Amino acid sequence: MAEFRLPKNSKIRKNGTVHKAADDATKVRKFKIYRYDPDSGENPRYDTFEIDLDKCGPMVLDALIKAKSEQDASLTFRRSCREGICGSCSMNLNGKNGLACTTAIEDLSGEITITPLPHMEVIKDLVPDFTHFYAQYASIKPWLQTVTPNPGKERLQSPEDREKLDGLYECILCACCSTSCPSYWWNSDKFLGPAILLQAYRWLADSRDEMTGERLDQLEDPFRLYRCHTIMNCANACPKGLNPAKAIAEIKKMEAERIV
Ligand code: SF4
Ligand code: SF4
Ligand code: FES
Repeated sequence: MAEFRLPKNSKIRKNGTVHKAADDATKVRKFKIYRYDPDSGENPRYDTFEIDLDKCGPMVLDALIKAKSEQDASLTFRRSCREGICGSCSMNLNGKNGLACTTAIEDLSGEITITPLPHMEVIKDLVPDFTHFYAQYASIKPWLQTVTPNPGKERLQSPEDREKLDGLYECILCACCSTSCPSYWWNSDKFLGPAILLQAYRWLADSRDEMTGERLDQLEDPFRLYRCHTIMNCANACPKGLNPAKAIAEIKKMEAERIV
């Protein structure tokens, strides 16, 4: 269940480091970035990085890479594709979850505050611990399951059935939705959350999968599925424009229809 007492090392201490821009900088923007290093034994802090946007790419990830390359090599964050495909660079940008690589600096106002995804354990700086999230993903068996004999070549699917996967297969498992869901904040030990439930529906909606009943049995649980209260934060947070709340509603409908 939810833990309401904050760990004693979670309070943000004052006096973070300010990394000044070069004297000849022409277009300075300030980035206030959450720093936490469990090995130091110190509480987290915010460091300020002054970035010259005239010498920086347009995206938040460009600013983070510039800060790490030129001002503090210990600044830690995940990234890989810089194309909005891998889901690695999800973080909280000025209070909203998003991808650093697809968020333009000019679309964020004022001093830009960057923190890790909310309500996740932090490994270091902007890197959250996804261990539990991935274990939940594994629990829904995210692969095609069949019982009929192998046809010897691919299992065919009509164009109409393939279309049913649109809005689902595009999920990059960035967790922007789950970490903006209040139900997931309080019950992530048992509630699967919007990202994993959208993935669960991706297999329920697949005409080639033959484990629909077993999948629905596994989800039929007061916590795993029914902790979604349709608050819709998930759809607002998704950087790929997906709607996990709709997928969750479809699972609930499938559960109800098989009872009737
Ligand atoms: S709609 Fe459901 S899953 Fe989405 S944010 Fe709300 S409670 Fe969470
Ligand atoms: S549904 Fe969207 S926000 Fe959620 S994990 Fe998938 S891509 Fe990320
Ligand atoms: S670096 Fe891959 S989604 Fe941002």
